[in-house]
Amino acid sequence: MEIELCGIKMKNPTMLAAGILGSTASSLNWAAKSGAGAVVTKSFGLNSNKGYSNPTTVEVTGGVINAIGLSNPGVENFQMELKKLDGSVPAIASIYGANPDEFSKIATHIQEDVDAIELNVSCPHAMGGCGAAIGQDPLLTSSIVSAVKESVNVPILVKLTPNVTDIVEVAVSAQDAGADALTLINSLGPGMKIDITTGKPILSNRFGGMSGPAIKPVAVRCVYDVFDAVEIPVVGVGGIRNYEDVLEFIYAGATCVQIGTSIMYEGMEIFGKVVNDLEVFMEKMGYTKLEEMVGISHKQ
Ligand SMILES: Cc1cc2nc3c(=O)[nH]c(=O)nc-3n(C[C@H](O)[C@H](O)[C@H](O)COP(=O)(O)O)c2cc1C
Repeated sequence: MEIELCGIKMKNPTMLAAGILGSTASSLNWAAKSGAGAVVTKSFGLNSNKGYSNPTTVEVTGGVINAIGLSNPGVENFQMELKKLDGSVPAIASIYGANPDEFSKIATHIQEDVDAIELNVSCPHAMGGCGAAIGQDPLLTSSIVSAVKESVNVPILVKLTPNVTDIVEVAVSAQDAGADALTLINSLGPGMKIDITTGKPILSNRFGGMSGPAIKPVAVRCVYDVFDAVEIPVVGVGGIRNYEDVLEFIYAGATCVQIGTSIMYEGMEIFGKVVNDLEVFMEKMGYTKLEEMVGISHKQ
């Protein structure tokens, strides 16, 4: 089950996705104890941010729509949580900012407390020009990735948005700017849900990013397209519920995967279960290493 992702050794190919129970050391340690091979924090920025007022999350058919607005306590406070991590699995800090300078400042501040940094340039409901407004522009993405790359020594993952005409163009510019790996995909949309009693949109921000099983086919297709175009590893995320879903991402080209929304349905136990089921499958099929399965759909 072991894999290596840009020099980071993981005991299995699953990670806690950014933003789902990753705001405190205790919830990150809980994911690690439950079997995740690595953990990604909730995205944090330079300064504290309240985010949107409630309701920020609503369930829809096939998943969840959220517009939390990247609420977080800011880098100084988040660093105190990072220092309390139990160190049992690699930790990846997810960070966001409005420009290359902000990203670099945060990355420099916390690089010694984590094994890697994931740049969130893809949140579909971020305030103040952070988020998908960056990740939809290959040049802006490139300027941020190269600025962070120059500032830190740890590997950099760049998390991309599916909400673009051509995800390959952004993926290639992130790679060319120095990304060590790409994470695909952030939530899809934005989408919305309306309360039929009042006629009002349910989320306070009206629109939010869609996650959960319904977005998995889009995520798998993004991984498939990007795998063909880049040389760096791809981390797949979007709607994973079980080992069969993990296999689809791996066959499309993912080196490893992240799990988010399904934790709301299955609990943290999902990590242990997925890894166990994947192991049984590999034994049955005669695979000895995960790498043997990466990208096999491209050979069909
Ligand atoms: C409630 C919620 C909060 C999220 N917060 C973040 C975040 O802070 N940073 C980020 O990069 N992605 C965030 N995401 C996106 C997830 O990390 C993931 O990319 C997306 O939900 C698709 O995976 P899933 O279907 O397994 O949840 C969030 C998703 C949800 C549902």
